[in-house]
Amino acid sequence: MRHLGIDTTAAYCTYLEKRPQEWTVLDTLGRVTISRFYRDKAVFAFLEKEVLPILVQQAADRKQDGVNIWSAGSGSGEEPYTLALLWRLKLQRRFPLMRAPITATDVDPVMHQRAKDACYLYSSVKNLPVEWREQAFTKQQAYYCLRPEYRHDVRFLQQDIRQAVPAGLFDLVLCRNLVFTYFDYAQQRTILEQIESVMQTGGALVVGLHESLPENTHGFLPWSETLHIFRR
Ligand SMILES: C[S@@+](CC[C@H](N)C(=O)[O-])C[C@H]1O[C@@H](n2cnc3c(N)ncnc32)[C@H](O)[C@@H]1O
Repeated sequence: MRHLGIDTTAAYCTYLEKRPQEWTVLDTLGRVTISRFYRDKAVFAFLEKEVLPILVQQAADRKQDGVNIWSAGSGSGEEPYTLALLWRLKLQRRFPLMRAPITATDVDPVMHQRAKDACYLYSSVKNLPVEWREQAFTKQQAYYCLRPEYRHDVRFLQQDIRQAVPAGLFDLVLCRNLVFTYFDYAQQRTILEQIESVMQTGGALVVGLHESLPENTHGFLPWSETLHIFRR
């Protein structure tokens, strides 16, 4: 408003009505982009110990050679790369014939570029177990840069979740600290239906620890009530 020389919200509303393209600017300003590696450690521990081994078994029963993962609202890559690290450092040895391709979507082009650069300040990686950090990153001045072999399995798409979902059928979807925090209930329901439509039956949906699915949601059962993980 200061930039436009507008004093009151009422005047800004009028401005929005007259110039619909301003909605894009407002939408961009409303984004919260905070994230970090291994955010909510207990969630990743549960995915490793309980959820992913079951998803792998289900995939093997379907004669698939991998579990497909989607990280929605993937920030600068912290969440999808944490999954890539978890897979390669903890699970790959147990399931040597399986793959875990990860699709990461975010609407923000700056986040997108940072994810591709894959270099982070200590504050972003400090939650990771020390041995993961030492093995998977090289230090470049103040930055921890993810080694290329941990990036291969992650593909980034610039996508607005209100308009599109990635093509594919996913065994595991993480949609944390985005839809079920910032969008209204009608939009949450619409997006949840879209998410459901690209998930395998028996697949897992993870939402943020402060989030829940909209009331009267059908199609998902709790997998872990405390960790806000659901099963389709
Ligand atoms: C608070 S961060 C959460 C990052 C990560 N999921 C986590 O929990 O740590 C929200 C992310 O959602 C992205 N985002 C916001 N609106 C979006 C939209 N309409 N479609 C896709 N991504 C969006 C933002 O750019 C940001 O990177």
